[in-house]
Amino acid sequence: MSLPDYISEIKSYLVTAGFDEQINSAVILGSGLGSFGEHIQNAITIPYGHIPSFPQSTVEGHSGSLIFGTIDGNTVLAFSGRFHHYEGHSFKKTVLPVQLAKSFGVHKLIISNAAGGINLNFSVGNLMVIDNIIRQNMMISEPSPKTWKYNLYEYADRVFDIAGELDIPVKRGTYLYVKGPNYETKAEIKAFRYMGGDAVGMSTAPELMEAAKLGVRAAAVSLITNAAAGVTDQKLDHAEVKEAADLKKEEFARLVKGLIDKL
Ligand code: HPA
Repeated sequence: MSLPDYISEIKSYLVTAGFDEQINSAVILGSGLGSFGEHIQNAITIPYGHIPSFPQSTVEGHSGSLIFGTIDGNTVLAFSGRFHHYEGHSFKKTVLPVQLAKSFGVHKLIISNAAGGINLNFSVGNLMVIDNIIRQNMMISEPSPKTWKYNLYEYADRVFDIAGELDIPVKRGTYLYVKGPNYETKAEIKAFRYMGGDAVGMSTAPELMEAAKLGVRAAAVSLITNAAAGVTDQKLDHAEVKEAADLKKEEFARLVKGLIDKL
């Protein structure tokens, strides 16, 4: 499977800036989870705006920089800020982090996101291992082939076990992808619950699909930052997402480090 030409141009730029040619693991950091970057040692941090052909991330809570460094001896590439389709990026661009990770030979990709809890047994602050996805908008098939060569959720069981070994309580469930950018209506969330969705969010599904297509071993984890619309009487806003992410950032970091080490 060949990668777009701009991926090799981006890689050359980054290698000249000091990134290794081959990198062990990559992490895509969801809304409010960018502080994970502080755990990376010997870090080289490059703002997205400096990288040729790189789209800009415009969402509050995503700082928009690429970090290369090490965690416990493993080389790591961290995307602090991702590209959402709702920001106007084509699906082809939303999966750029996965393609770039592939070009560096990454063999563990950890995808994270902030999500709304649909499952009534979930609470704000829960971590959920994604073991299935539902795409509310099937348009997102754009970057993917008709069939996937690899199982999308092949590693979910392993992620669940690793969390257990680390004594980190996690849920597991189905991530329901919506295009956004607006939050859902109460009726939509009720319908999504009947459909089998456990958490709802505006990212991750295209990235997981691209990873499956390219044969990059990928695991995805949601942080439940709010109850989805209608689950409680509370109004949804982005500040709540950041607040919940902030409270859980240490546990999230411990899980991601464990995955880098053991997946
Ligand atoms: N809906 C969609 N996306 C989200 C939510 C939500 O409730 N919370 C965080 N991302």
